[in-house]
Amino acid sequence: MSIQVYIDGKFMPKEDAKISVFDHGFLYGDGVFEGLRIYNGQIFKFHEHLERLYESAHHLLLKIPLTYAEMEAATLEAVRINNIRDAYIRIVVSRGVGDLGLDPIKCDVATVIIIVDGITLFPQELYDKGMDVITAATRQRRHDTVEHRVKSLNYLNNILIKLEAAQAGRLEAIALSTEGYVVEGSGSNIFILDKKGTLITPPVYVGALEGITRNTVIDLALEHGMKVKESLFTRHDLYIAKECFLTGTAAELIPVISVDRRLIGDGKPGEVTKKLIDIYRNYAQNNGTKVL
Ligand code: PDD
Repeated sequence: MSIQVYIDGKFMPKEDAKISVFDHGFLYGDGVFEGLRIYNGQIFKFHEHLERLYESAHHLLLKIPLTYAEMEAATLEAVRINNIRDAYIRIVVSRGVGDLGLDPIKCDVATVIIIVDGITLFPQELYDKGMDVITAATRQRRHDTVEHRVKSLNYLNNILIKLEAAQAGRLEAIALSTEGYVVEGSGSNIFILDKKGTLITPPVYVGALEGITRNTVIDLALEHGMKVKESLFTRHDLYIAKECFLTGTAAELIPVISVDRRLIGDGKPGEVTKKLIDIYRNYAQNNGTKVL
């Protein structure tokens, strides 16, 4: 049976899952979304993701036509119907159908889509040997534009960052802020281990999405006695870091072994990084909302 997709209260096979061309999510990227993972039949950080979804919609004055409890129930049903114990859930809420103008007021009701499928951002070998990345010329947007903590469908800035990586023969690029501070990857947050052994990640206000994986890694690192701080840092700090890794629901934790051809540490995944990958994987496998 093909993947069953939820659209506005109904489930349908992937090949029949279509929305109107007048949907403003399609026409203007007007909408919000979340990416969640199911590990071993458990949805990981389910409520943190739903909370961010509703916060993002609230910021955009986008009324989600499902209550939080109804969204929770619809997501659980989508997982049960598809019966995949290890998968990725994409929840999309667009502004809905309007006319060809961008006026969101003319969209009567938001469109709700729930997809349960697999996702592989990077080949497994890069998790083992580490990834080479570049820094992008495209800057991450400031907080006084489309707020970076709103996980909106507006991903062109991230796509331009991803395109720069591809042009450089890389799979990921790190974006800087307009002031030149390191912000995050095109679809992930970033951590470095400095020469004093402190884990550092940029403060969200510099332009990063407040990643749920990021926040989980901070908590787990602290619980395991590691020093962690949120601090601005520049490319120089990145280049001289002992270790570096990226975090995200889809990416999970992936080691970075070079940035702009500067080796990070000895050019191999760092020991702290490998330890955190194991800690995170073990935690994620055993601390979700049981569904299957
Ligand atoms: N999003 N920064 C950006 C720009 C992202 O798109 C993502 C993840 C993250 C990591 O956030 P979190 O840990 O909450 O997933 C940071 C993609 C779609 C994903 O991984 O699902």
